[in-house]
Amino acid sequence: MQREQWGSKLGFILAAAGSAIGLGNIWKFPYIAGENGGASFIFVYLICIAIIGLPVLIAEILLGRTTHRNPVGAFKALSKSKLWIGVGGMGVVSGFLILSFYAVIAGWSLGYIFEAIAGNFTIFNTGVLAAEHFNTLVSNLPWIIGYFTLFMLLTMLFVYLGIQKGIERGSKIMMPILFVLLIVLMIRGITLEGSEEGIAFLLHPDWSKINAQAILVALGHAFFTLSLGMGAMLTYGSYMSKNDNIPSAALQIIILDTVIALIAGVAIFTSVFAVGLDPSAGPGLIFHTIPAAFAKMPGGYFFSIIFFILLSIAALTSAISLLEVVVAYFVDELGWDRKIAVIILGFVVFLLGLPSALSFNVLADYTIFGKNFFDIVDFLASNILLPLGGLLISIFVGYIWGFDKVLVNLKEGSQNLFDNYPYIILTWKFFLKYLSPILIFIVLLHSLGILDIIF
Ligand code: TRP
Repeated sequence: MQREQWGSKLGFILAAAGSAIGLGNIWKFPYIAGENGGASFIFVYLICIAIIGLPVLIAEILLGRTTHRNPVGAFKALSKSKLWIGVGGMGVVSGFLILSFYAVIAGWSLGYIFEAIAGNFTIFNTGVLAAEHFNTLVSNLPWIIGYFTLFMLLTMLFVYLGIQKGIERGSKIMMPILFVLLIVLMIRGITLEGSEEGIAFLLHPDWSKINAQAILVALGHAFFTLSLGMGAMLTYGSYMSKNDNIPSAALQIIILDTVIALIAGVAIFTSVFAVGLDPSAGPGLIFHTIPAAFAKMPGGYFFSIIFFILLSIAALTSAISLLEVVVAYFVDELGWDRKIAVIILGFVVFLLGLPSALSFNVLADYTIFGKNFFDIVDFLASNILLPLGGLLISIFVGYIWGFDKVLVNLKEGSQNLFDNYPYIILTWKFFLKYLSPILIFIVLLHSLGILDIIF
């Protein structure tokens, strides 16, 4: 059967931006920026995006587009070594793992749309009350498993319908909606009285906070937010045409991802500060503080519905790309039918996700080193497998594949760039070969706790 391709370059960019823009942009980025020095952190983060995000993103898309295969098939096509094929395999395994816990959180977001519609947040108008309500919900097994299942079914639906009819069409509808909803929320936020404090929290430059720790956070996030290291961008790149310009597409994806993260930060912190709440870290900010903030502002009923629709869309377009990696492997390499693959693999992810869903209630007391099942899968995938995958991908493209072949393939669709701005290509080569691997390696050492032992 003919392998599918994106209907247009815009379709690819929106789908890839959909993968990149996710829970990481809406809750993680605003918070780490606020905590680690505001505008100073954002400056460091932009540098990290430029020196490791962009080069590795181009490398991943290029691997996919050259081979027209999933992560395993891509390495198989370019190398005989089991080691490199194993790197592709690690990507597929990461896809299973990340989706299994990502969909649990995304399920909460979906459930919160209905909480908002039911008007429940208007009652829980302090952070403490909202947190109690959250705890009641996540201990409710039918609630947590029901919305997790619903979210998985939605994700499966888009992948089931295929590249053009499912993923591309879905992204073309959902990404503009996401953008509009976010703008609406930002306008609500900045027009609240006292919103300046939120802007100051997010944007006030504080260079004294830029230390090794903050730089590591920025590096790690640059990587996570672009969905790098497991072949998601590789797989999306594999449906791209040879006429498309990869560096320009990669740049557009990065700009969209960064702009959305910044707008999300403004929308969230103007709202939280204007009503006099304290920002809290991680999931707490989204599921405790935000509902309480909306309860206290004019029109909060509607804005809370909008917020959780937005969060759910962001999570859905990321989850779709995770499932696509896994499905593409079974379709390309094992010859499965796409539709059957989606049903079977979706179910496997669901089973794998159950212990994560139960980590917030019945399994909460089962911990290893203080981490429950959910935390362990999250740590293993996000902090170990993704940086390791990214490191090996940049080494493969920088050293193993053969750089003359890399350039021949990259040139397709971007001859113009090679002719007019050859130094851009040289800079990319330098970053990919020297800077990215070293910096990603440092992030990995940090995750493993090895840096703390040395210093
Ligand atoms: N980029 C996503 C976010 O910001 C999270 C993510 C990390 C991801 N790696 C991924 C999504 C791989 C899809 C595929 O939330």
